[in-house]
Amino acid sequence: MAFFTAAGYPISFLVEEEGREFRVVSVYLTEKDQAAKLRALCFAANIAGTKPFCRIHHEKDWSQLWKKGWKPFALTPRIHVVPLWQESRIIPKSKIPIYLDTTNAFGTGLHETTRFSSQIIERLSGNFDTFLDVGTGSGILVIVAFLSGAKKCVGFDIDPLAVKVARQNLKANGQTCVLKVCDVKEFKPVRPFDLVAANLVSPDLIEFRDRILSFVRPGGALVVSGVSLKNIPRVVRAFKQAGHMPVNVVSGQEWAAIHFNV
Ligand SMILES: C[S@@+](CC[C@H](N)C(=O)[O-])C[C@H]1O[C@@H](n2cnc3c(N)ncnc32)[C@H](O)[C@@H]1O
Repeated sequence: MAFFTAAGYPISFLVEEEGREFRVVSVYLTEKDQAAKLRALCFAANIAGTKPFCRIHHEKDWSQLWKKGWKPFALTPRIHVVPLWQESRIIPKSKIPIYLDTTNAFGTGLHETTRFSSQIIERLSGNFDTFLDVGTGSGILVIVAFLSGAKKCVGFDIDPLAVKVARQNLKANGQTCVLKVCDVKEFKPVRPFDLVAANLVSPDLIEFRDRILSFVRPGGALVVSGVSLKNIPRVVRAFKQAGHMPVNVVSGQEWAAIHFNV
């Protein structure tokens, strides 16, 4: 994913699927020559262990195609994600299901940035009543926050389609909250929140640091994600400069989520 985002492909064009033997990252493009250009870029980068290939899908099908291989999976130690179109699938009795359709919205839960944010939110269970999701995508983090004890949640996203999908997902999970189409540059909370999550990209987290921090009440907590491994020091430094120390960094193969006290 980091390779494609660094090459300028918006995260909303990318879908990552974790298979048993390998991981597939798909980039959905509308023109053949765009695909050929990307394929050439992948070959030129010659990343060990990767196999670039192109496939043509009919336009009307592409947003449904990636659903095929999706099965319920563990998002956190307590929560399993169940695709909405597989609602009847059985998951272990000890797990809580989240029903999710992420067609056209980021946040399947398969991506490290979402998984790590969810895990930190779950660990903070019982320590927050109000929750704000900056860049809510599919709404998955709001659903996790409710399951972790939040009484009131708000989410917003710059992408109207994401907000529409998030509303459907909240409804499918029997939850309600305020979901708005809004840019982080313009969001004005009525009052600050106990816990705020912002799964954006590092440059945005740094640029909007002070705005995002202003959404958190003093003594509250902030989870930032969408931080590639190489950007952890930059993001930590930026928040330290604003007087906030990291409490916990959860990192994986490519990405990290960082929990700050505010
Ligand atoms: C990486 S996704 C995170 C989705 C979800 N919160 C999760 O953790 O899976 C980032 C989301 O932020 C939204 N976004 C990007 N820039 C934004 C901005 N300036 N203001 C509000 N939302 C933004 C995108 O549309 C996208 O849905």
